[in-house]
Amino acid sequence: MRPKRHFMMTHAITADPILEFAADVRAGLTKPDQKELPSKYLYDSVGSGLFEVISVLPEYGLTRADERILRTHASEIVDRVPRPVVVAELGSGSGKKTRWILEALCRLQHTSYCPIEISRAALAMCARELGDIESVSIVGFEREYLDGLLEVAARRQKHQHLMVLFLGSTIGNFDRTAGERFLKEVRRILEPGDSLLLGTDLLKPIHQLIRAYDDPLGVTSAFNLHLLARVNRELDADFYLSRFEHVGFYHKAARSVELHIRSRDSQAVSIPAADLTVSFDAGETNWTESCHKYASEEVRHLAKQAGFYCNAQWIDREWPFAENLLIAE
Ligand SMILES: C[S@@+](CC[C@H](N)C(=O)[O-])C[C@H]1O[C@@H](n2cnc3c(N)ncnc32)[C@H](O)[C@@H]1O
Repeated sequence: MRPKRHFMMTHAITADPILEFAADVRAGLTKPDQKELPSKYLYDSVGSGLFEVISVLPEYGLTRADERILRTHASEIVDRVPRPVVVAELGSGSGKKTRWILEALCRLQHTSYCPIEISRAALAMCARELGDIESVSIVGFEREYLDGLLEVAARRQKHQHLMVLFLGSTIGNFDRTAGERFLKEVRRILEPGDSLLLGTDLLKPIHQLIRAYDDPLGVTSAFNLHLLARVNRELDADFYLSRFEHVGFYHKAARSVELHIRSRDSQAVSIPAADLTVSFDAGETNWTESCHKYASEEVRHLAKQAGFYCNAQWIDREWPFAENLLIAE
């Protein structure tokens, strides 16, 4: 018998996503010192698919480390969380690793699970991936993180706690100051006793980090360069992808791996929908993503600054990575 599926999807309320994309591209590419393209635009159907491939690359140990922790400790994690609980996941991606938490919770209660994603393709994967779990109802929110979380919080009933998942070190895409600000915003939406399971990738040898973000097969390169293809497709631009290359390097002061797209020669690109012609010098880069790395004690401090206390921390030794269970004070 086919398993019963409970899935509902709420759609984006953004007035015009293409106008917003055009405005962000224009703002980023006209920055005076360093051109930028916001990393959230890496994720559409192509980007979410490529990210799934990255997550199984031998050089990218992060997802496997996170998965090992969740698989091994899911029961202990859910035992530490006040219940009954509604689960909201920020940037769920395909939700593969979340299965361990949902299955552990479902042994204790019926569970509403609300993945919050800007990528509709990721939400669709999530529904396919987790829709077979007994006693889970999935309501996908195609929203920005905080907009989605506000909606989930508004819908919960008085007796229900919220458990927020922010897995896979997506927090690392914020710089340290913005990360703390973001956690404070999350905390403001929560009630005391609500929880946040926060994944953080830990500091490790630089050569290991570089390989993870510049793999020999070129999948991360494709993931990064596809952003230019998306600008071509959605904003009628004329980027020649072969005239650009992917670069990943470690920024020591920021303790972060930065992904850039470097122009191989001097060139001009027209982006009609953003009303922009942009020039690149040979060797000039667009900054597309940062992946900040943490020390485990730094995460406990960060949690405190944001109004949480760190109830427990699980660390994977094979690929230094921490899952941190934070409870709202
Ligand atoms: C690095 S991936 C991590 C996916 C998954 N959590 C994991 O651990 O494998 C980040 C996810 O967050 C989503 N995302 C990025 N920016 C977002 C935003 N501002 N609001 C909502 N989702 C966002 C992306 O679509 C992507 O699926």
